Amino acid sequence: MSTRTEPIRAVKGTRDLLPPETWRWQKVEDEARSVFHAYNFRELRTPIIERTELFARSVGADTDIVTKEMYTFEDRDHESLTLRPEATASVVRASIEHGLFNEGGAHKLYYMGPMFRRERPQKGRYRQFYQIGAEVLGSDHPAIDAEVLEMLHLFLERVGIKSFTLLINSVGNSKCRPEYVKVLRRALESVKSTMCPDCQRRAETNPLRVLDCKVEADQPIIARLPSILDHLCPECRQHFDRVLAELKQRGIPYEITPRLVRGLDYYTRTTFEITSGALGAQNALLGGGRYDGLSEKIGGPPAPGIGFSIGEDRLVLAVEEAERSKEASKPESKDAALTVYVAWLGDAALGPASTLVRELRRQGLSVEIDYEPTRLKKSMGIASKLGARFAIIIGDGELARGRYQVKDMSTGGQEEVEPAEITRHIESRLRSLNYFAEESRKPL
Ligand code: HAM
Repeated sequence: MSTRTEPIRAVKGTRDLLPPETWRWQKVEDEARSVFHAYNFRELRTPIIERTELFARSVGADTDIVTKEMYTFEDRDHESLTLRPEATASVVRASIEHGLFNEGGAHKLYYMGPMFRRERPQKGRYRQFYQIGAEVLGSDHPAIDAEVLEMLHLFLERVGIKSFTLLINSVGNSKCRPEYVKVLRRALESVKSTMCPDCQRRAETNPLRVLDCKVEADQPIIARLPSILDHLCPECRQHFDRVLAELKQRGIPYEITPRLVRGLDYYTRTTFEITSGALGAQNALLGGGRYDGLSEKIGGPPAPGIGFSIGEDRLVLAVEEAERSKEASKPESKDAALTVYVAWLGDAALGPASTLVRELRRQGLSVEIDYEPTRLKKSMGIASKLGARFAIIIGDGELARGRYQVKDMSTGGQEEVEPAEITRHIESRLRSLNYFAEESRKPL
């Protein structure tokens, strides 16, 4: 009796991203790079593992992320390491470590990559998920807050997401927030016993976290708690008003949401989220805010900062949803985007066919060839299955004439072209078909 080995599956909450879906990921990443570049952001890549202490001190020891969700392990030399649950702390750590703050002026950095949180997996929520984020370090000017939101607005527009809502709030600073927390703690005294066990604990340890509790039964109680916007100091009030005025001036709609304190402890002043109706329960497409004291918390110089992280998994879902609703042309066919399939018939044709394939690929065209001898009819079947725009056929007759057959797969039309002319021929045909039009850069 044969015993079959069980296939090994991906870890719960992680997933493989397969083609053609990966094409869409590449598209949103390309668009992000292009928009970020226009706003003078440059890419930073930080390690995926960091010392656990970095997140305890920045994200906050009493946040859900740090208490329940981090993948933390002891390294062989007994150091506690953590798979990054987010990247803002790493960006600030790296900026301190490499002296970016000493250079003065605002530094604009962006990153893309996987983050890890041990949450309950569901649609739009994974244990390994991806973020595209950007941070501005070294300025607390309210116009920077508005510029970051303007950039996000443009980015979402560029990837085709039309229906989204910007929720915005101010959580004050180290001067006024402790006062508000006292008020909140007092207000919680009389109601906390009716709240969920987490809130009962948070009411003692970190009352602000009560405001982002997701438990349904707690929501009416939370709605009646005092609002942070009524407790901002004059400087924070003025900062917030200026951010809102800048947004108005830039034509960016927003909704003021006083409970939006966000699940991370490093925030000061501006906090925001963008939600999308297309996403269902996990509707936060992105989140961000200002973190003016974060650098000091992890041993750096005073350096204000603001940034955001887009949940790329959710972004891709929202882009798909937007495309479905406008019934756009099938993305699969664009993903294939194979320009040429080269079919060869007879041993003598294989060498010239390989040479042609190499030449076309060097010209940047997407080209495929099969090295097994294949009958013409089958080759044409493969070419059309691969979505090739053209098939090139090389057999003994073509070799003898020194001209190859170039077949337009959409019309079936066929022409004989000299090998040296093939790239030019294909490119001019593609141009006349407007093939490159949608790929060409639109002005920002
Ligand atoms: P965050 O709100 O924790 O903020 O995460 C930002 C976004 O990441 C969320 O809005 C969501 O789209 C996505 N996200 C979070 N957890 C998951 C998950 N388990 N599965 C899928 N997507 C998820 C931050 O991470 C801050 N670093 C944002 C920031 C940057 N603040 C200032 N600068």
